[in-house]
Amino acid sequence: MLVRLLYASRAAEPLTGPVVDSILEQSRANNPKAGITGVLCFSDDLFIQALEGGRDEVCELYNTIVRDRRHLNVRILSFEEIRERRFGSWTMGQVNVAKVNPTLLLKYSERAELNPFICSGQASMALLDELIATAAVVGRSG
Ligand SMILES: Cc1cc2nc3c(=O)[nH]c(=O)nc-3n(C[C@H](O)[C@H](O)[C@H](O)COP(=O)(O)O)c2cc1C
Repeated sequence: MLVRLLYASRAAEPLTGPVVDSILEQSRANNPKAGITGVLCFSDDLFIQALEGGRDEVCELYNTIVRDRRHLNVRILSFEEIRERRFGSWTMGQVNVAKVNPTLLLKYSERAELNPFICSGQASMALLDELIATAAVVGRSG
């Protein structure tokens, strides 16, 4: 059975390229073995990540991620059973929010900035959907 989990968190320290790169490297090494796909969206100080795959695998990975000291204030935005994947092409796609058109951010938020902590999970998911549609997600695996 497939599930999709969406969470947001704050970076423990202002995010630098090497920190994001190391997370993506770990994700791309581990996720295929666990059948996990998804997308990691990041700005200077926060993450939104969608994880999809088998329920056990997604829950296990989430439990690992929550304990990671590179971030804090991890908040589940949504968890749902799904019939099919949305991010099946990405072992872990990436979106740098600094490169996203502010109009798109404004479409789903009160300000033209990413703040999943004050948005509904539905709005954050809709934003991720549009990011896929506008090809803002990079790192396609196949
Ligand atoms: C925001 C964030 C997202 C992460 N996403 C993943 C992921 O999708 N897959 C993964 O294996 N590790 C992810 N990690 C890293 C895990 O917390 C953990 O460090 C890693 O799975 C350990 O893998 P290793 O034992 O192969 O080094 C993430 C960490 C953070 C802070």
